[in-house]
Amino acid sequence: MILPYYNNNENFILYQGDVNCVLAEMKDKVDVIFADPPYFLSSQKQILQNGRIKVCDKGEWDRVASVENINTFNRNWLSKCRDILKDSGTIWVCGTYHNIYSVEQCLIELGFQVLNIVVWQKSDPPPTPYGGRFNFSAEYIVWARKEPKAIHCFHYEELKQMNGGKEMPDVWRFPSSGAWERTCGKHPTQKPLRLLYRVLQACTERGYVVLDPFAGSCTTGIAANLLGRRFIGIDQSKEYLDYGVRRRQEISDPVAAEKILKKMSENPEEVMVMVNHARPELYRKMIETGICYLRAGDSKGSLLVTPGFERLQYVLLHTGGDDAQLFKLKNKGHFQIWTRETLQQYGFEPRNAVYYVVLHFDASKTIPMKHIPNLKEDKNTFRAKIRPLSDFMGIK
Ligand SMILES: C[S@@+](CC[C@H](N)C(=O)[O-])C[C@H]1O[C@@H](n2cnc3c(N)ncnc32)[C@H](O)[C@@H]1O
Repeated sequence: MILPYYNNNENFILYQGDVNCVLAEMKDKVDVIFADPPYFLSSQKQILQNGRIKVCDKGEWDRVASVENINTFNRNWLSKCRDILKDSGTIWVCGTYHNIYSVEQCLIELGFQVLNIVVWQKSDPPPTPYGGRFNFSAEYIVWARKEPKAIHCFHYEELKQMNGGKEMPDVWRFPSSGAWERTCGKHPTQKPLRLLYRVLQACTERGYVVLDPFAGSCTTGIAANLLGRRFIGIDQSKEYLDYGVRRRQEISDPVAAEKILKKMSENPEEVMVMVNHARPELYRKMIETGICYLRAGDSKGSLLVTPGFERLQYVLLHTGGDDAQLFKLKNKGHFQIWTRETLQQYGFEPRNAVYYVVLHFDASKTIPMKHIPNLKEDKNTFRAKIRPLSDFMGIK
């Protein structure tokens, strides 16, 4: 019997070893499998690193001799995954053109039914160093169910809601894993947590057991545990599993977990803009000083600082007419509460309230606007609103 390398209360279990050996020993069935296997692109692909063209090298595990070897490898581990997947279970397998056709072919031959091929469109793809090709900006994830007749878990309505009431498409746009999710170590092919979070939101219920046979830094496990799902991970590398353990320990701290969950609820493609409607003379004064202020209280006098404030990145000033200018805040999400007297020292003549929310923006640079977005007024003549990046030109 194989013993776990790490076990956190049966919710996060790791096995170290070759995928086929470990899978052969596993007895209990799992609900969902997410696999990010070797794509076998090391030594096949060139990359640009520090301005130099280099041959991609993710590690020995990512090198392979021939197409036949790729097919044999995929068939082996996929058939073992099939054995331990529940009949109602689904499997997700990542890849690029180097391995994805082999994966799909093996899945079909083993009796799985392909449901979708989800495209992960990278919003920050690295440049492709050699000519004659388009930029490589996508990866593919085959999603298949074990039994064509069994009913599998899919939260269609929830996903639709997440997509603003429209059916969730099979193209998902996310950036690569960011520095905030790599604070505990390094893995050359770490998947973005947002991607795994979406996958598990789509096809799992609380308490489900999720297996990742090529766990690496355990991104799948972190997403699973954050969502209240159990996780089993396999990897042959102790170094990567240790990284996964550190990531798991990080989210044991409720404050750290909360921070990450907040990131999951945000769309990294969207910017948060504070909209301020001002009379023409006030509008000019705000631009002159780089200060935008709003009354910091409703009619009952409580502070009107909404939870979205820490995400504010821009301020849009307009007079309600054709004039509208967008400015970047000096510090993202940073605001102060000033009294009427302090504002008066800067030449303003605020009237209605004692306290004001003050935002400082870079008044020297206006971001050109293609068109004035469809902004709605709130009762206090401003509204913090999330707009897609494409609404504005020149935002970096
Ligand atoms: C593409 S990476 C997975 C990265 C992971 N999704 C993450 O977010 O960190 C593939 C992983 O599979 C592991 N691996 C490769 N071949 C293996 C094998 N035969 N048995 C077990 N693990 C293997 C590698 O050590 C590597 O960490």
